[in-house]
Amino acid sequence: MTTATNNLPKRVKMVEVGPRDGLQNEKQPISVDTRIGLVNRLSAAGLPVIEAGSFVSPKWVPQMASSEEVLAGIERQQGVIYSALTPNLKGYERALQARADEVAVFGAASEAFTQKNINCSIAESLERFAPLLERAAADGIPVRGYVSCVLGCPYEGDIAAEKVAEVSAALLDMGCYEISLGDTIGVGTPEKAKRMIDTVASRVPLEKLAVHFHDTYGQALANIYAALQMGVAVVDSAVAGLGGCPYARGASGNVASEDVLYLLQGLGIETGIDLDKLVAAGNYISTELGRESNSRVARAMTPA
Ligand code: HMG
Ligand code: MG
Repeated sequence: MTTATNNLPKRVKMVEVGPRDGLQNEKQPISVDTRIGLVNRLSAAGLPVIEAGSFVSPKWVPQMASSEEVLAGIERQQGVIYSALTPNLKGYERALQARADEVAVFGAASEAFTQKNINCSIAESLERFAPLLERAAADGIPVRGYVSCVLGCPYEGDIAAEKVAEVSAALLDMGCYEISLGDTIGVGTPEKAKRMIDTVASRVPLEKLAVHFHDTYGQALANIYAALQMGVAVVDSAVAGLGGCPYARGASGNVASEDVLYLLQGLGIETGIDLDKLVAAGNYISTELGRESNSRVARAMTPA
């Protein structure tokens, strides 16, 4: 049984992950100036939360090196939250030094993916996050918790919704204020997504859940619509559909922010974001990367 199907939220918080989840997977070098240019255009479009970088090991994810310089170089807009990914205390200290407003820890519902992504077991990852969450609580820095592979894993295949719920509940108990459920390889479909969210919601209040869909199989918008119908009011996306995960083979881009915003506007859901400016931000980064945007809406709205 899934929960009510007509529970659309009035307002949705869009969390923009393009400058991090998007750019982390690019093969070509991306300058700090370009990364700064993207973040500034996203804030000008009205995105309330922008994941601006990642304080992981530069040996593991070279594209996110220099995240300090990105955070130092952006024009900070009042009311915008500039967040960063932090795998451990070392990453947290770098993020704090760089004046990130918020940080995110990232676990997974799959043992094999956790090993490939952060080189430890799920239990060890939670042990690593504990001191970070304690420090962040003392410093008054909110911490988001990601759970990857919630609808499938590139190494283990199917993932039990109960396992997703268990890891999500552990992150919540440790102090994460929001749990983002990541379909890292984009294999989910709406009914499966609803069942998973329903199971997680038995242990984590629905209002603390975010959804994070990749569009590998073209199902992301359908999955987001299903989640919205259940009342989920936080949606992650990446402008121009940038992205993928370097440790999840076959994971293509995130759902495009422009496409999510178009869907939300069509449903009469408020976001505070300007679609034209968002399309301009997506076109900017697509031009910098030398390729066409992955956003269908941006392509439709941009003259040839
Ligand atoms: P490790 O090698 O097991 O760790 O890596 P270690 O503690 O032994 O450290 C190894 C070296 O890294 C040492 O340097 C450390 O100082 C350094 P050395 O002595 O060799 O010169 N180091 C660091 N340097 C800078 N910043 C740090 C840091 N930590 C250690 N924070 C570790 C473990 C977690 C560090 C590594 O595995 C790592 O950085 N992994 C990150 C992987 C990653 O970023 N993946 C992509 C993000 S997850 C994702 O995209 C999914 C998501 O979008 C949701 C979804 O889509 O589902 C969130
Ligand atoms: Mg992702």
